[in-house]
Amino acid sequence: MAIRPTSQNSPLETENQGNHPSSAIPSVGIDGLSFYVPGQYLPLEELAKARDVDVGKFHTGLGQEKMAVLSPDEDIITLAAEAARPLLTDIDLSSLDAVILATESGVDQSKAGAIYIHGLLDLPSSCKAFEVKQACCSSTAALQMALATVTLKPTKRILVIASDVARYGILSAGEPTQGAGAVAIMVSANPRLIAMDPEDGSYTRDVMDFWRPNYRDEALVDGKYSIKIYLEALENAFQSYQNESGRSIDDLYRFCYHLPFTRMGEKAHSFLHKKFGAGKPETFKQIEDSGIYNRQIGNCYTAALYLAITSLLENEAEDLSGKRIGLFSYGSGCMGTFFSGKVQAGYRDHLLTHQHQALLASREPLSIESYERMYQHALPIDGEEFQNPQHARGKFRLAGIEAHRRIYTADGPDHIPSITASAAELVEA
Ligand code: HMG
Repeated sequence: MAIRPTSQNSPLETENQGNHPSSAIPSVGIDGLSFYVPGQYLPLEELAKARDVDVGKFHTGLGQEKMAVLSPDEDIITLAAEAARPLLTDIDLSSLDAVILATESGVDQSKAGAIYIHGLLDLPSSCKAFEVKQACCSSTAALQMALATVTLKPTKRILVIASDVARYGILSAGEPTQGAGAVAIMVSANPRLIAMDPEDGSYTRDVMDFWRPNYRDEALVDGKYSIKIYLEALENAFQSYQNESGRSIDDLYRFCYHLPFTRMGEKAHSFLHKKFGAGKPETFKQIEDSGIYNRQIGNCYTAALYLAITSLLENEAEDLSGKRIGLFSYGSGCMGTFFSGKVQAGYRDHLLTHQHQALLASREPLSIESYERMYQHALPIDGEEFQNPQHARGKFRLAGIEAHRRIYTADGPDHIPSITASAAELVEA
């Protein structure tokens, strides 16, 4: 297999992106995007029926159709490793400087999940591995850390992986906004997908809109308040971005927002235009394609914005080459960052569109009973030995727990299999 060098030209010879004062700044950004989701989902019609709610609330009011449901032998580590796999096939692994895992569903208080991923992917020992946290926006902090490192060391690459499982509880108001998934983002100089602008705007404030104490595996949330704080963060972050970059809303051709549910993107887009649009109404065409995948998967916290970016690039019919897109990352608690990047010429040749669409199309719907059973599956919390039933359809699975250690295996199929056994049968086994 041919190994692609990090860059054809010296990064210092490339065109500077954005308004950065230094002409020696290389173009750095997103070179590859790959996502992975569990093999089953709950159709929200099923949830609406079971909870005696009009399905219009889920489909229209929240903008969600399907909710990804984790298998008993999957977790954020297996999802992350599956997502990253396709991005490692055509690069020189010795150019990887670090793998950074962004998650709020961590599996250990001490050991970084990125180290398990490093092992499963057989990455070189010279590649660092660590984990970062700040609710849904730690993936953006990780991306920005990666961009800064690659700017200093342009022959290096950094793999950022956002992986999460959103859990609010059966019968909770947040239940229809649950989901699970991982997005892997390859950061390099001379990126093939999006060259990031150096300017950004951030907003941080200590609030309790959504949090998860160590003793719980479900989030606590003040739903309506969290929406209000999301918009407050958007307003302030955009204002700072505008001050730093000198750009206005009109300089951004498309927008991708953090999507806890896709209707939130519409609320955010309308709000931004009301505040900064100089009387011009919003155009939903600017966000339409960014929500297509999220609508089918649900909230995947740190991964949600990067799933929206993937969705935009893979589903928008118009060629976006040379267009600048505005990005808003929000993490409860709270921190929000507004930033932007320019889509690169020829980006379509480097997307995994076919693979992603096949992955979504091959999932299996669950009945409400199977979903509830899978949701309630829990690993022992006292160190007891435990073996998970074989269920995950990918290469990696969490086989069980032995002597307080998570045991991962990497002997599943190398491609997306067609699912033959029913998910419900497997979880009952
Ligand atoms: P709820 O109270 O069940 O829903 O909770 P609602 O009554 O507000 O209804 C939702 C919408 O559906 C409303 O529209 C209704 O009118 C509409 P809106 O007023 O918003 O325009 N509706 C209907 N539409 C059509 N046909 C019908 C119908 N019935 C009602 N028949 C809530 C909704 C989102 C609050 C809840 O699901 C929740 O708490 N979710 C979790 C929290 C969340 O997602 N917050 C978002 C912002 S915070 C964030 O994004 C960070 C986060 O990702 C975590 C992190 O950072 O780590 C969550």
